[in-house]
Amino acid sequence: NGKRVLVTAGGTREAIDPVRYIGNRSSGKMGYAIAEAAVARGAAVTLVSTAALPSPAGVNVVKVESAEEMRQAVLAAYDAADIVVKAAAVADYRPTIVADKKIKKAAEDSLTIVLQRNPDILQELGSRKKSQFLVGFAAETHDLEAYAKEKIAKKNLDMIVANDVTAAGAGFGTETNIVKFLFPDGSKTELSCLPKRAVADKLFDAVLQRLPGAAK
Ligand code: PMT
Repeated sequence: NGKRVLVTAGGTREAIDPVRYIGNRSSGKMGYAIAEAAVARGAAVTLVSTAALPSPAGVNVVKVESAEEMRQAVLAAYDAADIVVKAAAVADYRPTIVADKKIKKAAEDSLTIVLQRNPDILQELGSRKKSQFLVGFAAETHDLEAYAKEKIAKKNLDMIVANDVTAAGAGFGTETNIVKFLFPDGSKTELSCLPKRAVADKLFDAVLQRLPGAAK
């Protein structure tokens, strides 16, 4: 209650030309559920989203498309945030060249698109973290806990929500998710398959347990 929460949701879209993009399977449901859970508890919520889902009541939604646009919007709200939850699926790469006209089929059978690294927004937030409580996600298909632990250290996180996106009932587009909360002190909480809103509520319960000076 009274805290400022910054949430990201949805998959970024990295333009190839005015017609095509490179995207991913994120629907935004996890991030929107997190924003709803936060506003229901009395937080001031900014949701930076690529998704076309209806804006949750009482949430300040900032629509973006690409990783770079998401980065700008997140950085603009970061200093004022108390809690940051990065549920968005951010493309690690984007096409080096964005054609300003639709690329026409050529005679060759194959077409090569060169990609270059996008900024790692979460890593940048971790490197400039002050008093924010920083929650990242890990979307993996294997070695879930190992990769999640690596991200906690590499990105200076206070908590990570790890999900195996190949598990039935978990990950992209589903109404439910199956997550593990991992923390820098090595502790871990495993949840069963729950509706994404229930996962979001458990997420904030865990955050409040660890937020300095928060009412337990
Ligand atoms: O949106 P839904 O359909 O409901 O699906 C939910 C979800 C599967 C997208 C969600 O639960 C989830 O796992 N979100 C994170 C997806 C992701 O990009 O995970 P990652 O392991 O690739 O990235 C790790 C973390 O770094 C994430 O917090 C991500 O936001 C962040 N990141 C990644 C790359 C990048 N360039 N910048 C980032 O900030």
